Amino acid sequence: MDLTHRPRRLRQDRIRGLVSETSLEPTDLIAPVFVDATTAERQPIESMPGHERVPIEDSVARVEEVLETGVEAVMLFGIPESKDAKGTRAWAEDGVVQEATRRITAETDAYVITDVCLCEYTEHGHCGTLEPGIRETETGSREDPSLTVDNDATLDSLRRTAVSHAAAGADMVAPSSMTDGMVGAIRDELNGEGFDDVPIMSYAAKYESAFYGPFRDAADGAPAFGDRRHYQMDPANAREAMREVRLDVEQGADVLLVKPALPYLDIVADVRREFEQPVAAYNVSGEYAMLHAAAEKGWLDLEAAAHESLLSIKRAGADLILTYFAEDIAEQLR
Ligand code: PBG
Repeated sequence: MDLTHRPRRLRQDRIRGLVSETSLEPTDLIAPVFVDATTAERQPIESMPGHERVPIEDSVARVEEVLETGVEAVMLFGIPESKDAKGTRAWAEDGVVQEATRRITAETDAYVITDVCLCEYTEHGHCGTLEPGIRETETGSREDPSLTVDNDATLDSLRRTAVSHAAAGADMVAPSSMTDGMVGAIRDELNGEGFDDVPIMSYAAKYESAFYGPFRDAADGAPAFGDRRHYQMDPANAREAMREVRLDVEQGADVLLVKPALPYLDIVADVRREFEQPVAAYNVSGEYAMLHAAAEKGWLDLEAAAHESLLSIKRAGADLILTYFAEDIAEQLR
């Protein structure tokens, strides 16, 4: 055959690297770290093999492990010693994230990003203060399913939480509760308290996803009743994501995060095209757990599947990837 076009010419070993369009670097990755104020010893997370909840005393050592792999940034999640209706431990000066942040920033060079949300801190497990009138019934269901989280009351809690993290030394804050107006409220409060230089990575398009299952075990933040569909996005919607992201951009979001990642690569690509800010994607717990489960059965090659997943997320347009594979992939890349 006298073919003019043979794409295979560029797939030969010595040229593949030169024509490769996407690359993955350890510095693209952010490793989630769970700090647990209720334990004195590291607790393995069963549904997320290789991950643990670490006591505050161990948080520096845990972050040093991450840094050794070449990953430079961590995202801190906290499991508080106690919970209440409003989640007041989320903004306590001696709270779990605040304590861990103080130690990590004093003793390591890690770039520390903190998750700003309330679901780990409220006894009902929702991402904010409930509207008056919502109560848990004995059967675990809401008395009035039309009631939900009180958006504007929650803003106040988020403001305080973000500032308490910045005061403890957080390099960046990442609000994840899908509260309307959260980015503007936090920006305003940070500026007012002298933290003008602390950027906000907004979970701008966060879907109500079944892929968060393992995380809710890890962080003990499952809603005690109901679900999150009144505040997280409907997986059916893509245009709505652009609207959500635009609102966060207007309110001053510095980095735009899409979550989950793999089932929402179209959204990652849309955000990349539409906006100038860096785009982050969260390769969530369920995306991690399903590869591990399949690999355990011998059905796929874990390293290869993890690498391909992250490469796809970058190819779709993400600059940063928050992933439980961060350390493994960084080591693989070295
Ligand atoms: C809390 C929060 C969630 C995740 C990160 N922050 C869970 C949720 O909305 O239930 C999930 C992360 C993951 O699954 O890896 N707002």
